[in-house]
Amino acid sequence: MSYLASEHLTQKQFTQEQKPKTKNPITLSTLQKYKATGEKFSCLTCYDASFANAMQKAEIDTILVGDSLGMVVQGQNSTLPVSVDDMVYHTKNVARGNRHALIICDLPFMSAATLERAIDAATTVMQAGANVVKIEGGSELSKIVSVLANNGIPTCVHLGLTPQSVNLFGGYKVQGKTDKQANKLLTDCESVVNAGASMLLLECVPKKIAKTISETFTVPVIGIGAGADCDGQVLVMHDMLGIYTKKPAKFVKDFLTDDTNETCDIVGAFKAYHKAVKTGTFPSDEHSF
Ligand code: KIV
Repeated sequence: MSYLASEHLTQKQFTQEQKPKTKNPITLSTLQKYKATGEKFSCLTCYDASFANAMQKAEIDTILVGDSLGMVVQGQNSTLPVSVDDMVYHTKNVARGNRHALIICDLPFMSAATLERAIDAATTVMQAGANVVKIEGGSELSKIVSVLANNGIPTCVHLGLTPQSVNLFGGYKVQGKTDKQANKLLTDCESVVNAGASMLLLECVPKKIAKTISETFTVPVIGIGAGADCDGQVLVMHDMLGIYTKKPAKFVKDFLTDDTNETCDIVGAFKAYHKAVKTGTFPSDEHSF
């Protein structure tokens, strides 16, 4: 390759990576504004550029590059085998395909087990294109959350059913059902929010406790199997397209084959999901605990 040709290629790659965001990209301030005005926001998991682009067409507000990729992309039995390198690879792909959504990236199993590891992992995924890092746990994360916030890295703390702890829980079970568990959930949220968490994500908790948490804290709260009162909703993309091979959980709705959809293509399914979240028709009681 001539010098000029290789220079041209570098220039083209640079342009691709640096493509500007859309006119009104979703930021944390957008989500805070939504929360203040009662507007709900949509979130879907995504792992590659093509689906990320389809989500941009459907105006999905936020994308989660979830470590669920271990199960739905890699075919593993849990999220435990997923590495920071995997998260970086998929985050780069998603960031290239979508210039609109706020991108949240999971810190995978054990990558936030110490402060040093968390700083390293968070730095790497932010440099790959994430806007927020998601960490599973509770009040024990306060120090990490505070150090990351002080260094410009927003965190979303994932509580309730935290899939990286599936072996401790003895399966994927609803959490926060007893008063004691519900109180612990509330104090965990309080600790991490006071430490500087920018968002919370509640998975598989009774809708009553999710409502209390969403009303108590000013940060945006995303729910999955946590009822309609959360500020935003997330589903795993493969679940809501009905293409994951395992039996869907109670909180999953298939938006691709559901007969109430006007269109039945992938962008149409994303649009139907976005609209259902915005209008509060998803999740219904049938999809909640
Ligand atoms: O990894 C993931 O996709 C998640 C969702 C289940 C919330 O954490």
